[in-house]
Amino acid sequence: MSTKPSQKTIEQLMDAAIRAADKAYVPYSRFPVGAAVLTGEGQIVSGCNVENASYPVTNCAERVAIGTAIAAGTRTIVAVAVYAPRVETVTPCGACRQVINEFKPAGDELWMIFSAPTGPFLVPFSEILPRAFGPRDLQDWGSGPPDWE
Ligand code: THU
Repeated sequence: MSTKPSQKTIEQLMDAAIRAADKAYVPYSRFPVGAAVLTGEGQIVSGCNVENASYPVTNCAERVAIGTAIAAGTRTIVAVAVYAPRVETVTPCGACRQVINEFKPAGDELWMIFSAPTGPFLVPFSEILPRAFGPRDLQDWGSGPPDWE
């Protein structure tokens, strides 16, 4: 999606992220997070963080949403909204940035949607993970880019 998501799409994605945060399983951090992704096919898929008694096994909301979307058949994510009710703005951890990078559109920008008291705002993904390593870096090695592109 080189074009930015419309205001309506931005609001739908942030609404889905807000609803997903309500489902978060966060007995350890008490820090709920919701995420919603827009697939290349126009579907909205949401996820929440799912913690574990073995703390590092925790799944972030972004990776749950992306994994769910991939399992539903998509291979391209064009926008990601994130919401955490305990802070004004939450941005993805480094691991999630790398996972988002895996599914961004080839040669096109992916749009992050962050919350703020004044309403959701857009940030280009390339701004939060510049000079990323991704599937296209492996294309000369016979193992990428994947043939679903
Ligand atoms: N977390 C997310 O799910 N997404 C983010 O963008 C930031 C952090 C989760 C992981 C953990 O369950 C809790 O927030 C505190 O780190």
